[in-house]
Amino acid sequence: MNVKSDCVADSFILGCWQLDDRSWKATPETDLARAIDTYLAWGVTRFDTADIYGRSERILGKCLKGRPDCQIFTKAVFFDSVPTPKQIQNKIESALRNLQRDRLDCIQIHWHDPRLDFTSTLEEFSKYVERGKIARLGVTNFNTPMLKKALQIAPIKSNQVQYSLIDRRLENSLQALCLQADIAIFAYGSLAAGFLSDKFLNVKFLLSEGEHARSFYYSNMIAQHGGWEAVRELLLTLDKIAKKYRLSISQVALNWLNNRQIVSSIVTGLTNDRQQIKSNMEALKTAIDPEDLEMLSTQSEELFEQVGDIYSYERGF
Ligand SMILES: NC(=O)c1ccc[n+]([C@@H]2O[C@H](COP(=O)([O-])OP(=O)(O)OC[C@H]3O[C@@H](n4cnc5c(N)ncnc54)[C@H](OP(=O)(O)O)[C@@H]3O)[C@@H](O)[C@H]2O)c1
Repeated sequence: MNVKSDCVADSFILGCWQLDDRSWKATPETDLARAIDTYLAWGVTRFDTADIYGRSERILGKCLKGRPDCQIFTKAVFFDSVPTPKQIQNKIESALRNLQRDRLDCIQIHWHDPRLDFTSTLEEFSKYVERGKIARLGVTNFNTPMLKKALQIAPIKSNQVQYSLIDRRLENSLQALCLQADIAIFAYGSLAAGFLSDKFLNVKFLLSEGEHARSFYYSNMIAQHGGWEAVRELLLTLDKIAKKYRLSISQVALNWLNNRQIVSSIVTGLTNDRQQIKSNMEALKTAIDPEDLEMLSTQSEELFEQVGDIYSYERGF
């Protein structure tokens, strides 16, 4: 059952890919620690990271030491080969070391080449759940056939996927399976790395930001779904609704997401801008009328193409 909590911070998982200075702004560790403290003060207790997010696991481990109330969801990534039991063991031990924990709250098995048979991987991770070394197993970017198969092998509880007003491929088929199998959806890309905010309202053309994820990940995503012109039109509507409720564009985008039945939690990426943190943490306090949310849904359907299952073009086939 996708029951949502009344506590606003409970709707969020803090995304910590942003601690990786190779794909996001290079921010000093002291500033990141201060930002994490600010989120903690707002009541955030769930954090998302990954083995492939550079220094992210290590910084989180340091900042959340002595906070057993905080849950850290990490990931294990094996893109194009089936790992051996030893490789899986190494991955788990490395996460435990980095996070400074005796047990992992959650490991999410990251997407892999779907042509590989991941049965043994899922079976191996399940053994760590049985032994109590991992509290729960999740997956990320598993499409419908992959999740269907995984559910027959391992006790998967969640699937982390991209979902926003721009990317709604989740609704094509995966949503039905997740509802039926009671799989929690953790939605990332909620702000499309900041594109869905006032900062981009008057931007006519997208400029490359080099190695920044906004460029290589989300600009590509926008191009696949309909292009920047379509996003500009959406931003105008978001702005109209935002003004009506005295909210910001990003707050309306988060509100829309939180009102989707399929979404269990929103994974918003860390920012060290205190105003943005406040804005995100207060985003869900204001209720937006269902007609306005419906208008946004309809406009997004008209503006953006949603071809295939989740993660279709990212996988390249
Ligand atoms: N499973 C996967 O494959 C996968 C893929 C991508 C992400 N994720 C997870 O999802 C998390 C979230 O990342 P995301 O890619 O989805 O990014 P996002 O949450 O859509 O965007 C985060 C960025 O948006 C900007 N931002 C935050 N609040 C804002 C506000 N109120 N107004 C304007 N801009 C704001 C910040 O950039 P500035 O600080 O520069 O302003 C921040 O770094 C990641 O950390 C990761 O944990 C998972």
